[in-house]
Amino acid sequence: MAGTKKLFIKTYGCQMNVYDSERMAEALGGSGYEEVTTPEEADMILLNTCHIREKAAEKVYSELGRFQGLKAEKPDLKIGVAGCVAQAEGQEIMRRQPIVDLVVGPQSYHRLPEMEAKAGHGEKVLDTEFPEEDKFEKLKARPKARRGPTAFLTVQEGCDKFCAFCVVPYTRGAEVSRPAARILGEAQDLVERGVREITLLGQNVNAYHGAGADGDWSLARLIRELAEIDGLERLRFTTSHPNDMADDLIEAHGTCAKLMPYLHLPVQSGSDRVLKAMNRKHTREDYFRLIERIRAARPDIHISGDFIVGFPGETDEDFEQTMDLVRRVEYGTAFSFKYSARPGTPAAEKGDKMVDPQVASARLTALQDLLNAQQRRLQDAMVGRELGVLFEKPGRRPGQMVGKSDYLHAVHVTAEGLAPGDLRRVKITASHPNSLTGELV
Ligand code: SAH
Ligand code: SF4
Ligand code: F3S
Repeated sequence: MAGTKKLFIKTYGCQMNVYDSERMAEALGGSGYEEVTTPEEADMILLNTCHIREKAAEKVYSELGRFQGLKAEKPDLKIGVAGCVAQAEGQEIMRRQPIVDLVVGPQSYHRLPEMEAKAGHGEKVLDTEFPEEDKFEKLKARPKARRGPTAFLTVQEGCDKFCAFCVVPYTRGAEVSRPAARILGEAQDLVERGVREITLLGQNVNAYHGAGADGDWSLARLIRELAEIDGLERLRFTTSHPNDMADDLIEAHGTCAKLMPYLHLPVQSGSDRVLKAMNRKHTREDYFRLIERIRAARPDIHISGDFIVGFPGETDEDFEQTMDLVRRVEYGTAFSFKYSARPGTPAAEKGDKMVDPQVASARLTALQDLLNAQQRRLQDAMVGRELGVLFEKPGRRPGQMVGKSDYLHAVHVTAEGLAPGDLRRVKITASHPNSLTGELV
């Protein structure tokens, strides 16, 4: 019988985890689970976790601690840990928190139904292998239910870049691209279910080189083919590495109307010395030249980035180089983090001099102030302009709908007859701290 057992999934970390959580819910749907929104009503709780920074990983254990009471009340409740903490810490999780029944890594979650059956018999189960079989192929076809107008679609997984600070190559494994035909099929299926915007995902998405009908396809080729799907109106992709920004992908930003003018292109630092220590394999000049070429192809593009401050050995001068890079590039959005030493990564093992935490915090504040000011300036400049907006859901006010602009701003519009999935031209009338408001043209 379908839908007799209740599943609660909580997702941490990146968009790839959001996609994986959807796929896990679908896989467990085949075992009779339906998703619920509170842990109290669940027969199974799954935490899909992130290991990128220490704080992210520790959240899992505090969350598990909160479930101890629930488990005591409901001994049949199954508790699982999935994602990158599961991959990195494996058995250690069950040792630290005995209420956990099941641990499953990001490359083996297609085996969840069998694991759930075993857990149902009281077994403790762990699977953090990188199996040969393709998990996407083993997963049940997506159910055909209608869904919201935007979706994520993982096209590439893992990473071979080994930036010195980063756990991803260890938690997600080697870089793998999915075959193009499978991605086109999944996209078509999503569109039939009401999706109008797809964001292609990969830790290193622009390194995509999946098998196509006529040899390996680049990400640009995949985007061009996806753009042919009727009813699919918008395409985005994330996250990209500067060294994989191929000519055809830059060109696509100028020629493919469905590819949105927004590019997340993390640089991490503006100092060549730090970039080298981070093993980023590009210089600040390389990055400037790249941004210049991208803007030549698509002048209005919004550039987004990630930054790490306080990388071991970072001096005031290095940090000033980062501030200078930010001033020169002008970011539409950005994410910035204080360096967190991660077990097993080269930067953590080398034992270089850690930056004083107070100094790192002060740098982070200064960088965030600058980035926020840039973001606000670019957003304010939208007032008076007409933007495409894809509406996603009702807003808080009566008659209000919220959507995303081409540049990924949240846009609020109050108008009669607007529905999720509508793509309309909107004249922007005001800019607020994290959103725009406008009226239909
Ligand atoms: N694959 C992507 C992003 C991976 S993680 C890329 O290459 O850009 C997302 C962001 O987390 C990174 O861009 C980086 O800015 C940050 N990050 C990764 N490891 C970190 C660490 N050890 N400490 C602080 N921030 C980190
Ligand atoms: Fe991590 Fe670097 Fe790979 Fe991005 S490119 S996932 S930061 S190792
Ligand atoms: Fe976190 Fe894993 Fe994504 S470590 S950022 S959930 S790939």
